[in-house]
Amino acid sequence: MSRVAVYPGSFDPITYGHLDVVARAAAVFDRVYFAVLVNSAKRNPIFSLDVRLAAIREAVDAVCPPEVASRIEVDAFDGLTVDFCRKVGAQFVVRGLRAVSDFESELQMAHTNRKLAPEVDTVFFMTALEHSYLSSTLVKEIANLGGDVSEMVPAAVSRRLADREPRL
Ligand code: PNS
Repeated sequence: MSRVAVYPGSFDPITYGHLDVVARAAAVFDRVYFAVLVNSAKRNPIFSLDVRLAAIREAVDAVCPPEVASRIEVDAFDGLTVDFCRKVGAQFVVRGLRAVSDFESELQMAHTNRKLAPEVDTVFFMTALEHSYLSSTLVKEIANLGGDVSEMVPAAVSRRLADREPRL
């Protein structure tokens, strides 16, 4: 049986940290769904859903060898993560842990998801040390204030940030 994982998140925008996690997940699982939540509770998205999906696909194809990139699907989902897992036949949820501060909320989510869907287990990857300070929220803030985020996000994101209408 092939091992399928869902890597859910807001990914607004993706960072090098997310790319590191998905590439490592693809070394463990046969297929990994980069699953972008449609209606994130997070306010003021920097990118529309379509732009996020396009940037992720481009970044994955640029960074991962073709054999790996072909096993990473980029998709949007609405509703519960576990429902998306069931829809695509995934037995695992993948999440990245950067620091102890992530642990509490991730533990809660993992237990809740397991309650909702006992057949779906959560697997954590420790985000690479060099990316462990990164967060989409900070990237968004820096980009909105005109700062340089080119070392934090893939070129597919930097270019789309540069192409945005200037904020008044
Ligand atoms: O990138 P984020 O914002 O940390 O991702 C959070 C996400 C999308 C994984 C979480 O909010 C989620 O799973 N949302 C979908 C709704 C759901 O399943 N809620 C119950 C989770 S315990």
